[in-house]
Amino acid sequence: MVEIHYHLLFGVDDGPRTLEDSLALANASAAEGVTHIVATPHSNHEHRFDLAGNREKLERLNERLEGRLTLGLGCDFHLSYENLEDLRRDQSKYTINGKQYLLVEFSDASIPAVTSEILYDLQLNGLLPIITHPERNPILVQNPRRLADWIRGGCLVQVTAASLTGRFGRRAKAMCFDLIQKNWVHFIASDAHSMGGRPPAMREAYQVLEQEFGRDTAERLCERNPRAAFYGELLELQPEPLAIYEEAQPARRGFLKGIFGR
Ligand SMILES: [Fe+2]
Repeated sequence: MVEIHYHLLFGVDDGPRTLEDSLALANASAAEGVTHIVATPHSNHEHRFDLAGNREKLERLNERLEGRLTLGLGCDFHLSYENLEDLRRDQSKYTINGKQYLLVEFSDASIPAVTSEILYDLQLNGLLPIITHPERNPILVQNPRRLADWIRGGCLVQVTAASLTGRFGRRAKAMCFDLIQKNWVHFIASDAHSMGGRPPAMREAYQVLEQEFGRDTAERLCERNPRAAFYGELLELQPEPLAIYEEAQPARRGFLKGIFGR
C-alpha cells in the first residue's frame, strides 16, 4: 500500500516530535504492508513549511530506514491566501514529489464560495487537487453536495483510513461509505500523526474496504491510485462518480452564508 497523506517528519508540525517517533511510525506502517509514504507536513498559520528543512529530515529518516520504505515529500496544503501566493511562485514546492498532485485541506470554520474557482484555477495551472478528508470537515459533513461541484470540475478526494474503521465517529464512517459507494473517493490515507494519538491504520481500512466494496476497490484506493500520485502518473480510468449532476437540495442561504459559504 502507498500512503500519500502522512505526518511523518519529526519536529515540523503536530506530527512526531523526534526522529525515533518518526521511525516508530514508519516501522508500524511497513509492518502493516505499506511500501511508500509521502511525508506531508502542514503549511498553515500554525506551522511554517520549510522545504529545505523537510528534505534534510526526510534524508535523515531515510538513512535509518535502510530501504524498508520508499519515502516522498509533499504538503498538507491549507487553502489560504498566503499559501496560494507562494504556490504561484513555485508549485513543485508543495506537490507530491514535485509532480502534479496537491493535497488540499480546508478550514473547519469556513469554505468560501470562491473555493470552486480557486480549485479550477489550480487545474488550469496543471495541478490535480486532492480534497483531503471531507468526512472530518464539519462544513462538508453538513453539506456533502459541495463536493459534487469540485468532483465535476475534476478534483480528486482522499478520506482518512481511521474514518472508515469508525475512529472518527459514526457520522464520518457513514459519510465515507456513502462517498465510496458513489465513486467519489480516489484515495485512502492514514494522515498519521503519532503512534499514541493518530497511528497508521491502512491495513484495517483495507480490510473494511475489501469486505464492504470488494478487493478491486481496496486495491485501487489503497495501492494503485496512491502509487500513481506518488510517481506523478495519471490515474487509471476511475468508475464514474454517481449523482454529481443532481440538483442540490435548495438550501436557505442567508447573507453571511452567501459570503462565507456556511
Ligand atoms: Fe494531515
